[in-house]
Amino acid sequence: MATTIAPGVLGVEQTRLEGREKVTGRAVYAYEHPVEGVVYAWLVQATIARGTVRAVDGSEARRRDGVLAVISHENAPGLGEPAERELRILQSPRVHYRGQIVAIAVAETLEAAREAADLVRIEYDTEAHDVALRDDHPKLYTPEKVNPNFPSETAEGDVEAALAGAALLVDARYSTPAEHNNPMEPHASLAVWSGGDLTLYDSTQGAPRARDTIAGAFGIEPERVRVISPHVGGGFGSKGIPRPTAVAAGLAALAVGRPVKLTATRMQMFSLTGYRTPTIQHVRLGADAEGRLQAIDHVAIEQTSTLKEFAEQTTVPTRMLYAARTRRTGHRLAALDVPTPSWMRAPGETPGVYALECAVDELAVAAGLDPIELRARNEPEVDPETGLRFSSRGLLECMRVGAERFGWDRRDPTPGVRRDGRWLVGTGVASSTYPARRAPSTAFARAHADGTFVVGIGAADIGTGARTVLTQIAADALEVPLDRVRVEIGDSDLPMAMLAGGSMGTTSWGSAIVKAITALREDIDAHNGTVPEGGLEARAGTADDIKADEPFSRHAFGAQFCEVAVNAGTGEARVRRMLGVFACGRILNPLTARSQFLGGMTQGISMALHEESVMDLEFGDYLNHDFAQYHVPVFADIEDIEATWIEEDDPHLNPMGAKGIGEIGIVGTAAAIANAVFHATGVRIRDLPIRLDRVLAGL
Ligand code: MOS
Repeated sequence: MATTIAPGVLGVEQTRLEGREKVTGRAVYAYEHPVEGVVYAWLVQATIARGTVRAVDGSEARRRDGVLAVISHENAPGLGEPAERELRILQSPRVHYRGQIVAIAVAETLEAAREAADLVRIEYDTEAHDVALRDDHPKLYTPEKVNPNFPSETAEGDVEAALAGAALLVDARYSTPAEHNNPMEPHASLAVWSGGDLTLYDSTQGAPRARDTIAGAFGIEPERVRVISPHVGGGFGSKGIPRPTAVAAGLAALAVGRPVKLTATRMQMFSLTGYRTPTIQHVRLGADAEGRLQAIDHVAIEQTSTLKEFAEQTTVPTRMLYAARTRRTGHRLAALDVPTPSWMRAPGETPGVYALECAVDELAVAAGLDPIELRARNEPEVDPETGLRFSSRGLLECMRVGAERFGWDRRDPTPGVRRDGRWLVGTGVASSTYPARRAPSTAFARAHADGTFVVGIGAADIGTGARTVLTQIAADALEVPLDRVRVEIGDSDLPMAMLAGGSMGTTSWGSAIVKAITALREDIDAHNGTVPEGGLEARAGTADDIKADEPFSRHAFGAQFCEVAVNAGTGEARVRRMLGVFACGRILNPLTARSQFLGGMTQGISMALHEESVMDLEFGDYLNHDFAQYHVPVFADIEDIEATWIEEDDPHLNPMGAKGIGEIGIVGTAAAIANAVFHATGVRIRDLPIRLDRVLAGL
């Protein structure tokens, strides 16, 4: 496949094209679109985790000035039968999780809506709830598929026999807690109905997909829905598909016959906008005396809700990361009385690689080998799961470059011996990997007679710099300066495109844009190189190209290094230095790419040391619903952090030669930190986050 890189616009640092609009406050987000006659909705949430709403008394709320409606299952307009059952709000008195929407108050002002919501009295018939994930939960079952469509279980060879015959064995149980996405902009919607058509200004990772999902929720044709979303303040997976909040806005607008604004509060997001399932993972590694893996066994236990099966693909990366003759992976799920877990940055890879990469470090210790050398001995020649060749595999090169840059060679492997005053100091390393995919998308490209161009695609810029890099891709394909091209995104009326997820945005959208521009340029050539007064337009979709892609195992790789200091008196762990080296094909915009890597690594530090949603067994809900109690790193927690990459020329990917970069930054980070904490202290923490009490218990 030929790549299109020309010097000048692609592969060079480019600041965000809408940066000035954003920092001056002129960029309009979902909640801010000005609409005539708008009113406000506020949600009432279930205070039980399981049971039935017996009665809703909205009489006092309705008597207040400015209150237009109190909507519950008793009087809500009917919805369709969406595949996403969580979106079928207020259609039945059944309560499936604490925090579920049980009523909506609508009023002329936000304050009146909030007060009205407070005055709604709900009576419940409460049933005993089941909210605690355990590895001996009686309801555990094996799902058929895991997200998005992988087999739940795989087996190759006799794992038990290989483990029994192994010279070295690691047999360990790891756990990760539930974690909640917290994009800076909360989930917000503005719903406007007009003659049976719905326009939804929404904070979403993909307007076309949101349109289809919302249409399904209301049981109307997709053509009757338009989703507009020019700017989005973060998503991380939580805005991949519309949440019940978006349906609530549409339902409220339908009920009162006025445009309705609704935003989830930060606290409401902890029950309504998805989260990462907690995991309990059992990893067994068997190796010969030289550290060569003979068997890999990885099983993850996770939760889902009673409304929908969401099975995170936790052990899927274990299928391809290292060579071993015998391998087994699997997933077990329990459907609990909880909100449905969902996508959160690098679902599957993040918790799964954490456990695997800690186990690999434990094996290196058992083998008396440097952990990089151990990984080098287990580097597969082809994808162990599929037998396919890797389109490119930069893992060891990332390790080599990172080791040199980090000063890994000077490392004394002995744990718990380096002191800096009260601090114990250690270093750790871990591998990262993330699939390099692209999904069918469609784009148009228009040439105007004045020499400017417009490209349109139903893409989303959720703060990543997508608008900017797509403009770079388009200008490169057109061989014109950046300022001659405008790329339109964030509107479901634009051509159907992949959502901003799975690190597939740039690769999917860029492929369609390059194809549309190639067709446009042929058309311009057919007009003797001049664009007629009325302009020219070409459209192209990539579904057939992707179907015809040669079979390769396509993945991005990375090596994460870190130095931690652990306070011997308090158990506090601090990441003093972190380096990520990535192999992600061609880097299209080094400025925004670096930010993506650093953001992912920061989320990884957060996962290792800070984030933990704690289940309150009595109330049946995660109890830490705000940033006072749900911890994320602040600037003081992020010290010396550096991301870089190796040159990778992979002709088997897409016209840009790029792999996705949005998620790989988080993948190996937590394991690198846990491994460094072991090196610093000699204490192996297998349960995240690495809290003070856990470290102190081991010291
Ligand atoms: Mo990402 S979790 O695929 O939006």
